[in-house]
Amino acid sequence: MDAFRIVGGHPLRGTVRISGSKNAALPILFSSLLGGSFSLSNVPCLRDVKTTLLLLEQLGLKISVRPEPLAESKGFDHNEPIWSDLLEISEGTTSPFEAPYDLVRTMRASVLCLGPLLARRKRARVSLPGGCLIGARPIDMHLKAFERMGARITIHHGYIDAETDGLEGSEISLPYPTVTGTENIMMAAVLARGTTTITNAAEEPEIVDLANFLVARGARITGAGTSTIRIVGVERLDPVHYSVMFDRIEAGTFLVAAALLGEEVTIREVESSPLSSILDVLKAMGAEAEIHTGAITLGAIRRPRGLSLRTLPYPGFPTDMQAQILPLMAIAEGPSSVVETVFENRFTHVMEMNRMGANIEIHGSQAMVRGGSRLEGAAVMASDLRASAGLVLAGLIAEGETEVRRVYHIDRGYEAIEKKLEALGARIKRIQEDSP
Ligand code: EPZ
Repeated sequence: MDAFRIVGGHPLRGTVRISGSKNAALPILFSSLLGGSFSLSNVPCLRDVKTTLLLLEQLGLKISVRPEPLAESKGFDHNEPIWSDLLEISEGTTSPFEAPYDLVRTMRASVLCLGPLLARRKRARVSLPGGCLIGARPIDMHLKAFERMGARITIHHGYIDAETDGLEGSEISLPYPTVTGTENIMMAAVLARGTTTITNAAEEPEIVDLANFLVARGARITGAGTSTIRIVGVERLDPVHYSVMFDRIEAGTFLVAAALLGEEVTIREVESSPLSSILDVLKAMGAEAEIHTGAITLGAIRRPRGLSLRTLPYPGFPTDMQAQILPLMAIAEGPSSVVETVFENRFTHVMEMNRMGANIEIHGSQAMVRGGSRLEGAAVMASDLRASAGLVLAGLIAEGETEVRRVYHIDRGYEAIEKKLEALGARIKRIQEDSP
């Protein structure tokens, strides 16, 4: 299995292109099950995207990626998208409706096929995603919404069996602003008969990107990005070409890297507004960010200050940035605290960071960080996508050599992160685990 070998302490300088958003690309790709055809650009070359394309092909869709992925052919230029700039999807001649366990278990976002399959094929058989390391992550809110829209749902042998005579627009009030739940319901409502209103909807930028894409295809959606979204069902969707938004969590990860070690780092192909909560936290810790059109420049914080934060649904500080901010808190002057309000068990990376010399205590959903640590390199184990990113950042600032193992986690959500960091001056290499 792959690992990263990092030698810490090397300053970062230069410009890095932020890739397309995993969490915008996935729902947009799954919406292809609503029928018709479209093409996309700025789709990131990630394991989760490849898993999604595999599942969509198994569900009968025709997919072409042109030109072939550049990473294998022309080598890597960190300023250019690794992957092709054109991905085309269209309906095939078959319309199966089963998402098998062996794919769903590797990527819980596969549940995003439920809404579009019900809307278009009136049938779906999807393996229950099961829990994952960061929490139970049930999908009860998705299923209750589909039942309100006229789906009949049973669960047998670990599979969700859903069918409908035709979805009806409905009033859906979400107990919690679930991100993929909002996306699933929105996609189901696009072809439903009548109007659907989602209240207490999630407001993430990726939901706005999905809505913008569907509206570009002729869907009738208003209110995306607010807590109330209204969808009036249409008969069909039109072809379109669309470019996926940038990945705000990758952008946030590189902003923290810059705050840790940047002489002067510029991230480009970004907008600042989706990054506001991350920029606010970094500024409160002492960072000075220069906001340009389409780019942000940040240098290392000379004497980072500790602070307290809570992870919250957008526009709050994202839970997907919690692991990444901890190394900066660990070395800051003064204490910090992080309350994780979104997931029930998202601190597995803390034990590994403490092995590197951080001083973090977990009390229930709160991490108490004693600042002033000097991190030391160590062999550490990645446990999930964002924990991996946090450990890489810790390795960049640690004294000596760090080996981050199980980096297949990080490949799920970051496009060649080691090559982008190396191009900025980091000493980081991808190796086979246990290689000398
Ligand atoms: C999305 O997951 C993201 N994934 C996650 O990013 C992100 O961490 C999360 O939103 C929160 O922002 C994608 O967009 C593909 P939720 P999702 O439904 O939709 C509970 C990453 O690193 N809940 O908003 O699964 C749930 O247990 C990934 O890119 C229910 O109880 O998150 C959790 O505690 C990790 N019942 C909370 O709500 C439900 O039916 C938030 O979950 C649905 C959710």
